[in-house]
Amino acid sequence: MNGLSAVECYLQDFHQRIVGSTPAAFSKLPAKANGVIHASSYHVLASLIPGETRSATVLDLGCGDGHLLGLLADRRQPGLDLIGVDMSRAELEAARASLPGDVALLNERAQHLSVESGSVQFVLSHMALMLMDDIEQVFSEIRRVLSSRGTVSFIVGRSFLSGPVKQLYVDALRPIAKDEGAQLRFGDPRTQLEDCWAALLSRSFHEVACTDVDVDWTPSPGELWESLSTTYDVDRLSVSGRAALRERFLAALVEVQEHDGRIRTGWGQRLVTAKARRH
Ligand SMILES: C[S@@+](CC[C@H](N)C(=O)[O-])C[C@H]1O[C@@H](n2cnc3c(N)ncnc32)[C@H](O)[C@@H]1O
Repeated sequence: MNGLSAVECYLQDFHQRIVGSTPAAFSKLPAKANGVIHASSYHVLASLIPGETRSATVLDLGCGDGHLLGLLADRRQPGLDLIGVDMSRAELEAARASLPGDVALLNERAQHLSVESGSVQFVLSHMALMLMDDIEQVFSEIRRVLSSRGTVSFIVGRSFLSGPVKQLYVDALRPIAKDEGAQLRFGDPRTQLEDCWAALLSRSFHEVACTDVDVDWTPSPGELWESLSTTYDVDRLSVSGRAALRERFLAALVEVQEHDGRIRTGWGQRLVTAKARRH
């Protein structure tokens, strides 16, 4: 893979060193969407693939270590073909080790897929599209590989932490990241805003719908720090920057700990669904 942007080089390097950080954060936390509680945000997406479908291909874009594909493979649904795409070799190696051999795994960029045009009925993506450069090219590729009645459904970030701990974290991180010049802007800023999805998708898709997905979490301070320490922001800090952040943040957490010592927080996500426009 040549000609990667600075962000893509960083993402490749991160996922080479740290595999499976996203399922570690989200796979065990229940997720609420449209008043329904799912076992996790991965299950929210899996629930959109009908169980009775006779013959369909599902493509997971930015599939990481294959957690979402694993949920679908576990159904052993006849006629359901699965494809995972990711630009990280290490994540795909982990996926290969855990998924059945008939799940196709492609080490490529979402902006240039080798998948045949019109051959996919469902494109899914969990916590990956908001990281991608040239999002318009990504949607053009998604539309190209989808069949005429195909759908795309993806979950992206909406709120990094919730409740008072969010501001405590920002206040602790910002001055350290600024001192270290560690800022890197991921993806297209429009993907952060609910209002922008309809416009971003409108060329190739219609019936665009956005739904909030809320993931509640009450970690201990240690669990919270462990999860944050494998995020891109913290990973880019120096060893001393990370130590300073840990110390400041854990000290600040004292004021928001519940009686049992735990922190009431969570993650806000956004589910976006859309149908392919006919060519
Ligand atoms: C935050 S992880 C999420 C992984 C997985 N979807 C999950 O939720 O467990 C983002 C993934 O997107 C992949 N990724 C980011 N940009 C990509 C691109 N342009 N093309 C293909 N994969 C990409 C990364 O390599 C990484 O595995």
